[in-house]
Amino acid sequence: PTIYVITPTYNRLTQIADLTRLKNTLQLVPKVVWIIVEDSLDKTDKIINFVFDSNLKIVHLVEKTLPTVKPSGTVGHKGVEQRNRALKWLKESNVANGAFYFADDDNSYDIRLFEEIRSVERIGVWPVGLVGGIKYEAPICKNNKVIDWFFVYNPRRYFPTDMASFALNVKLLHEFEDIYFERFTRGDLEGVFLKKFQIKMNELEPKANNCSKIYVWHTRTRKEIIKSGIDFDKEIMKQI
Ligand code: UGA
Ligand code: MN
Repeated sequence: PTIYVITPTYNRLTQIADLTRLKNTLQLVPKVVWIIVEDSLDKTDKIINFVFDSNLKIVHLVEKTLPTVKPSGTVGHKGVEQRNRALKWLKESNVANGAFYFADDDNSYDIRLFEEIRSVERIGVWPVGLVGGIKYEAPICKNNKVIDWFFVYNPRRYFPTDMASFALNVKLLHEFEDIYFERFTRGDLEGVFLKKFQIKMNELEPKANNCSKIYVWHTRTRKEIIKSGIDFDKEIMKQI
């Protein structure tokens, strides 16, 4: 099966550096379609050039985050409109099988994660490193069933888990209606989304060796502060 990797991305100094790391990872994975959704009104030259320069199957889409809900503090989550745009593309393109995964552009991925994703029949789950204020969050599994979760952050969450910790089979998009991310979830973007599939904890598919391996880390790239804006070469700037 093909893996559809959905990546929201927005303009900033580290954007191409982050996307290049992810591109290099995905180049090591067979049968991948990379859906890049720019947080922008129009496709930017920067990402058009990046896509042109990549030896990967890429679907390049755009969807701007509404200015009124621009992520800040408790106002909302990041990447919502962009992921929803990709879900719309999957539905409209009548993709019938394969798995899809939401891969943020600044995380770190072990390529073994993608083979776990490929075998997801409905919803697969696994641990994520460096997230939720602890060293890792993880489903706790017994006899190949998820029985509990190891986490600290926000216990009101329906499934206390990060975006990087699950993948779904595309057939679920045809089985269920209204599969999209909600903008306001009180910090439970992932749980409110997963709840739509009416799935119980013990119906989730534990991956990564019964949820004992960390194949993805919620790393974050430090914001770069540039001290001087003079002498920028326009051609080189397209690559930054
Ligand atoms: C955490 C989660 O890991 C994200 O999956 C979740 O979307 C986010 O919190 C949230 O709930 O707001 P975090 O590292 O804080 O992630 O978020 P970012 O990595 O900054 O953003 C998540 C994705 O959205 C990235 O791929 C980023 O490029 C994109 N993004 C971010 C936009 O498209 N527009 C923005 O204005 C900001
Ligand atoms: Mn991030």
